[in-house]
Amino acid sequence: MDLTVSVLLGTFILSVLALFVFIASMAKGLFGSGGAAAVQIFDKNEVGTVEDPAATKAQRGELQQAMDPAHLDNRRNAFEVGTRLRADQSSSLVVGVCLTMAVVWLVLASLAGLVASIKLHAPDWWVSQAWLTFGRIRPIHLNLVAYGWCSMAGIGVALWLIPRLLKTELVGAKYALLGGALWTVGVTAGTVAIALGYSDGLEWLEYPWKIDILLVIGGALVGFPMWLTLLRRKVAHLYVSVWYIAAGLLWFPILFLVANWPGLHFGVQQATMNWWYGHNVLGLWFTPLGLAAAYYFIPKVLGKPIHSYNLSLLGFWSLAFFYSQVGGHHLIGGPVPSWLITISIVQSMMMVVPVVAVAINQHLTVLGNFRALLYSPTLRFIVLGAMLYTASSVQGSLQALRSVNTVTHFTHYTVAHAHLGLYGFYSMVMFGSIYFIMPRVMKWEWPYPWMISAHFWLVLGGFSVYFIGLSFGGWYQGLAMLDKDIPFMQSVTLTIPYLQARSVGGALMTLGHLVFAAHFFMMGWKFGPRRLGAALLAAPDAAPAAARALPGKGVAA
Ligand code: HEM
Ligand code: HEM
Repeated sequence: MDLTVSVLLGTFILSVLALFVFIASMAKGLFGSGGAAAVQIFDKNEVGTVEDPAATKAQRGELQQAMDPAHLDNRRNAFEVGTRLRADQSSSLVVGVCLTMAVVWLVLASLAGLVASIKLHAPDWWVSQAWLTFGRIRPIHLNLVAYGWCSMAGIGVALWLIPRLLKTELVGAKYALLGGALWTVGVTAGTVAIALGYSDGLEWLEYPWKIDILLVIGGALVGFPMWLTLLRRKVAHLYVSVWYIAAGLLWFPILFLVANWPGLHFGVQQATMNWWYGHNVLGLWFTPLGLAAAYYFIPKVLGKPIHSYNLSLLGFWSLAFFYSQVGGHHLIGGPVPSWLITISIVQSMMMVVPVVAVAINQHLTVLGNFRALLYSPTLRFIVLGAMLYTASSVQGSLQALRSVNTVTHFTHYTVAHAHLGLYGFYSMVMFGSIYFIMPRVMKWEWPYPWMISAHFWLVLGGFSVYFIGLSFGGWYQGLAMLDKDIPFMQSVTLTIPYLQARSVGGALMTLGHLVFAAHFFMMGWKFGPRRLGAALLAAPDAAPAAARALPGKGVAA
């Protein structure tokens, strides 16, 4: 047995053991609710106080009414408020820069996606320029969403969460700033390279490897300060979001380096590595960042600790154990050893464990408080994202079954699932997080609350059309391809109305992103009336005092 097989089997056995640990822990009743760790994200007396800097004053009042009308005590400990203010201030510049770049990439990526979408039902449109052909504009879209929007937004949110959760100022923010700048140069260079026809030719790994070096150095410079802050932390206990972020920061560089190393993988091994990376970048990079944000913002906005802290740890560990082997399900039916595919299918089904753990936890935290969604813009996006995490993962597990994959592979159904995961789950969570964070970073409230609603309804409506249309179209396409009596061309033409529907849905999503970006930059330029109630953690005159305050003194926050 060679080393690769031993390693694969070793991690598989470890995963099975993790399942037994899970069952044993359940039997021992380890999943009680509450716990000191779950309230760590709150200051003293803060449980019961809602928080959403994206909500208007009226919405905040309604939110508090919906959650805990009897909670009158908002006298907070001045020392704790000061600590949080200093933590926020230490990261605000680099977070602002990362999130600004993320929004720019989001708009460009959406426009590229829309062009690629139209080309699939109007192939003669815009063909005179090589960079606008489908073969280039599609990877431009994919890489811009993956390394531009999703990574930059996730890094920005993580850089903001880490000091808050560790109650420590960000150490070495200037390195993170330099890292963000290098990453931006890398994404720009990678996009231009693909547009000019230079590509490494593997999906998710298209940027030429020399450009990847910029991302490696940039990523290291961004990650380093988070590790340093972790070492200097002032809290005894690490909240579950820190686990997810730290793990993502560890996993992603390994994945990215191994997959992009030139001349290391060939033939079938290269395909296997390609999808080992392709799925792990989703499960071990974007998913942890998205879940870290959801685990922080859902309880924080509601002023209510997460339902079961132990369950959240189980979700984390089972993700760590089960995810690394699932990539093979992208190669079902391919010329790859069947045991490798079978392991990936088993692991894909086992993913039900972390997914159900997260689902129970996050949904039970919100259960009974759905009215809060009416008043909190942050929560509206994040709870929708959390629900779609469950949906995309359950769909993914089923899609990994050979019987289902035979129909869906090579069809638009896979693309619908891809957007359910990376858009419905991840991007929605990032939108909500940005709505919460930016008022704290800019010390200015969102100027026009109607634009947040417009963003939400445009992307929800657009995405629904996109997802439903493409799922049906893809399924019918798969059935037609399997039917020996149907000519192949018919399986292509039958998808045209569904592809047109995707363009309509995608156009609405893009419009939503333009509204979001316009609002984001308006906030940057301090448009709108001066409303600082929610944007500031403490009242303006109390803020400097709180930052200097000694333990035990109360301030109104
Ligand atoms: C239990 C969890 C999940 C499982 C088992 C799973 C399974 C799958 C399967 C079987 C495919 C199709 C492979 C093919 O036929 O080509 C797929 C594709 C994909 N999934 Fe998932 N999925 C899961 C969760 C997620 C999540 C949470 C995300 C997003 C964060 C996501 C994003 C994607 C993307 C982007 C693709 C398309 C990849 C490509 O072809 O470029 N999945 N997934
Ligand atoms: C933040 C927003 C978005 C994210 C995260 C995202 C993500 C993705 C991903 C992961 C893929 C690869 C799918 C696969 O290979 O199975 C993809 C492909 C694609 N996306 Fe998006 N997307 C976004 C927005 C859009 C928008 C607004 C449109 C407009 C219609 C769009 C249209 C497309 C098209 C046409 C493809 C290529 C599908 C194919 O090759 O058949 N996307 N996107």
